[in-house]
Amino acid sequence: MFHTLKIEKIETIQCERLASLHQKCFEKGWSKKNFEDYLRSPLHQFWGAFDADQLRGFILFQVIESEAEILTFGVDPEFQSQGVGRQILTLSIEELKKNNLEFVFLDVAHNNQHAILLYLSCGFKKMMLRKQYYARKSGINQDAIVMKLKIK
Ligand SMILES: CC(C)(COP(=O)(O)OP(=O)(O)OC[C@H]1O[C@@H](n2cnc3c(N)ncnc32)[C@H](O)[C@@H]1OP(=O)(O)O)[C@@H](O)C(=O)NCCC(=O)NCCS
Repeated sequence: MFHTLKIEKIETIQCERLASLHQKCFEKGWSKKNFEDYLRSPLHQFWGAFDADQLRGFILFQVIESEAEILTFGVDPEFQSQGVGRQILTLSIEELKKNNLEFVFLDVAHNNQHAILLYLSCGFKKMMLRKQYYARKSGINQDAIVMKLKIK
């Protein structure tokens, strides 16, 4: 368990740091350019988990009126299963709630048990399956589960 972790909104963090952590978390990591584009957009909001000045995790939302969608969410594999993900998810949603949010949506690979357990324990419900949604390097595409959190 982290005692020094801070969850902060990211406005200007170096995009290399985000891209390099994203690439550690996902098979198809995003580039520095991807992050630069998102950080410039008024529809997108990032939060990071910082241990001192070290970035340990991130979450990105697209927010349109009263609906938010989680576009990406990850924790450094060396620091997973220590409560970092739960803190990022819950604190960022608490912040978004201050702006009249009604729903949060996300897609998760059907076999990502770790993430699904976290989402269910935070109140998300399974809505539907998107068949063959994620293209994988193995060539075997994976189904995604769409989940939804009702805020009010
Ligand atoms: C999903 C992810 C962000 C969760 O972050 P994390 O810091 O590891 O999660 P936490 O330690 O806060 O754990 C939260 C919950 O997940 C579940 N969990 C944690 N470790 C687990 C493990 N090893 N196996 C199964 N479930 C686990 C538990 O339900 C846990 O609840 P608890 O706090 O009551 O123990 C992280 O694992 C990750 O980056 N995974 C790779 C990228 C990814 O899949 N992102 C989500 C895409 S939808």
